[in-house]
Amino acid sequence: MAQPHESRVYSDLARFYDWTFGRVFIDHEREVIESLNLRPGQRVLEVGVGTGIALEAYPPYVHLVGIDSSAKMLAQAVDKTEEAGMRHVELRQGDALALDFPDNAFDWVVSFHVITVVPDPVRAMAEMVRVCKPSGKIVTVTHFASAQPILYFLERLINPATKLLGWTNRLRLEEVINGQAIAVERCERLSRLSVHTLLVARKRPSDGEQG
Ligand SMILES: C[S@@+](CC[C@H](N)C(=O)[O-])C[C@H]1O[C@@H](n2cnc3c(N)ncnc32)[C@H](O)[C@@H]1O
Repeated sequence: MAQPHESRVYSDLARFYDWTFGRVFIDHEREVIESLNLRPGQRVLEVGVGTGIALEAYPPYVHLVGIDSSAKMLAQAVDKTEEAGMRHVELRQGDALALDFPDNAFDWVVSFHVITVVPDPVRAMAEMVRVCKPSGKIVTVTHFASAQPILYFLERLINPATKLLGWTNRLRLEEVINGQAIAVERCERLSRLSVHTLLVARKRPSDGEQG
């Protein structure tokens, strides 16, 4: 089985995460969550929840489960939930490549800046789709490799450096959506200058399943 070894860099940096990566990611993650129109009673899974920078944006009327492979990142998230008394949030250690949940368990499955970090992004997406309910939604924000040849070439050049920081910038969008039982509803840059893409996809019910 593939190991979530890439997460070690985040474990090593856990204490500094909120002041480095977290500062860059926090605003757009909260905006994305607030745009989802989550409904009372819905079950939401955040895969690779890290230090929980976006937890405050989830409304208290959903049940949120956050998993991460790094105990040190999770410990920071636990502190946040305890300080804020977030009783609707449940955090546990887990592997995005082998989610410890039954099929069709969540209305929403969300991940921010995780799919390019795990050693097998296609499998991570397949797992997110598996645990999502039929007609539920999968939401991912990450950097995908540019479709423009020159930019793609430049991204390949700096990929060894980004790998040291824990992620690849060579992942193409098609690699993670092709062959999955999903219908893409939104696929857009977060802003004109952003390097991050928001992907929202609905899980297609299989034959005989209620959507
Ligand atoms: C760039 S950080 C993003 C954290 C958080 N989503 C955020 O936006 O702040 C990537 C996270 O993915 C986690 N991660 C890496 N591999 C993982 C795996 N196989 N399963 C679960 N989490 C993993 C890391 O521990 C880290 O917390």
